[in-house]
Amino acid sequence: MLPVPVIVVGNEKGGSGKTTVAIHLVAGLLSAGMRVGAVDLDHRQRSFSHFFANRAQWAERAGRAFPLPKLVSISPSDHEARSLAEVEDARRLVSAIGELSAESDAIVIDCPGADTALGRAAHANASVIVTPLNDSFVDFDLLAGVDPETYEAKAPSIYAEFVWESRKRHMIEKRKTIDWLVVRNRMSSTETRNQRRVSEALTKLSQRIGFRLAPGLSERVIYRELFPKGLTVLDLIEGKTRGLTMSQVAARAEVRGLVAALRLARLSKVAAAG
Ligand SMILES: Nc1ncnc2c1ncn2[C@@H]1O[C@H](COP(=O)(O)OP(=O)(O)OP(=O)(O)O)[C@@H](O)[C@H]1O
Ligand SMILES: [Mg+2]
Repeated sequence: MLPVPVIVVGNEKGGSGKTTVAIHLVAGLLSAGMRVGAVDLDHRQRSFSHFFANRAQWAERAGRAFPLPKLVSISPSDHEARSLAEVEDARRLVSAIGELSAESDAIVIDCPGADTALGRAAHANASVIVTPLNDSFVDFDLLAGVDPETYEAKAPSIYAEFVWESRKRHMIEKRKTIDWLVVRNRMSSTETRNQRRVSEALTKLSQRIGFRLAPGLSERVIYRELFPKGLTVLDLIEGKTRGLTMSQVAARAEVRGLVAALRLARLSKVAAAG
């Protein structure tokens, strides 16, 4: 039996596209016929949970059966002693993964855009970490600083150090590696000089600190406009009179590409069975 992959979408940079990427990973895995567990660790925003609540409501209104993940939202412990609260948070996270593993082919965890004990526990239990990054040196700065003249990446910075530590601990405790995938988000159709520099710096950094790079998602309204219905571009049905637009077809390909970039062994098994 293959272990259930735990896909942790994380980046301490707020607004980099974690929830958008997490939603589309769940949607892509569901549409490939997988049973998906989803964990929302952003107890303040709860956007990941709201999306699936919207989806369930819309399915009822529209009289259609849209596939849903099994969703768990975890709140941080309110224990006064910080060390005890952290232990309790890690316990809650591991228990949610255990509960979901029994009935899921993959688990997707959406982290908040800040360093929290729940987020740390999620990274420590990941099989794949997916880090969305806007094409900007502001986002890049969480992975590494860059030389202002050559744009060469300097030493790894806070989030890269954190992932490095999580990987090291995972290897010591579980004798397993964590795959790390950095995904570019909100790419524009025309590449500016700045984007090219970010892209080149990322390629070099990926070799140095050991992550894989995936193209990710372009900047598209379709990735946000269906949120109130809890739908994604994968749910759209081609009408009798009107097919999908070029942009919708391209968006679908991007989402499928994102899912394929996870390289899940279970995904190919489900695809082969279907
Ligand atoms: N590829 C995209 N195309 C268009 N809009 C996008 C795209 N990715 C993200 N957005 C929009 O950018 C905003 C931030 O995205 P999102 O909420 O996914 O980021 P986040 O990393 O989860 O933020 P936080 O750190 O606050 O949790 C949202 O309004 C979202 O709809
Ligand atoms: Mg979010």
